[in-house]
Amino acid sequence: MSAKSTRTKYGSIAITIHWIMAILILVLLGSGFRAASTVVAEAKATILLVHAPVGISVLVLLILRIVWWLFFDKKPNEIGGQPRWQEVSAKAVHYSFYGVLFLMTASGVGMFILSGAGPILFGGGTEALPDFDNFAPRVPHGLGARLLIALVVLHAGAALYHQFIRKDGLLSRMWFGRDQTKKETS
Ligand code: HEM
Repeated sequence: MSAKSTRTKYGSIAITIHWIMAILILVLLGSGFRAASTVVAEAKATILLVHAPVGISVLVLLILRIVWWLFFDKKPNEIGGQPRWQEVSAKAVHYSFYGVLFLMTASGVGMFILSGAGPILFGGGTEALPDFDNFAPRVPHGLGARLLIALVVLHAGAALYHQFIRKDGLLSRMWFGRDQTKKETS
């Protein structure tokens, strides 16, 4: 399969970025809620040592993805035959993902900068970890996390609906391998 997308299938670069981001976002949601609910300082520090770099990696992938779509690749055509409201909501969910992921990474970094947690965790500092609730970006970080869960549920639900109820192959075109629609379209 090609690195770039075709009219009917995503290319291997877009697919790779999509699934790596999907896995990392699940890791971040799990580790984030775990960090927030643990009261044992060392355990919280260990989780955040993973959570923060993974969060930054998502930001890097997000930027890479935007650059890829803007300058190097063109998205496949829309899957035809779906009601207008579904097309509009799919677009709204996709754009909201970008917004919420930027919000999450910016507020995460903001918390680290304002609280001084960065040097404590990564610079060998010996002070106790700060209470992140005392810093303003904690609020959008918590709200954004809940919004992100809603977006993941909507996005994954729609993909499964297309794949298994409408059977229009939407999910397959975001996976590696041969273009299943090739025979019908070319
Ligand atoms: C897409 C990126 C990110 C996602 C999805 C994410 C997810 C989460 C979630 C779900 C929580 C728990 C929220 C709650 O209980 O209300 C959390 C907490 C937190 N995250 Fe993130 N995060 C991301 C990026 C980052 C980054 C880049 C940093 C730091 C550089 C960071 C630092 C923190 C901190 C300090 C907490 C608070 C832990 C506590 O309250 O004890 N996050 N994150």
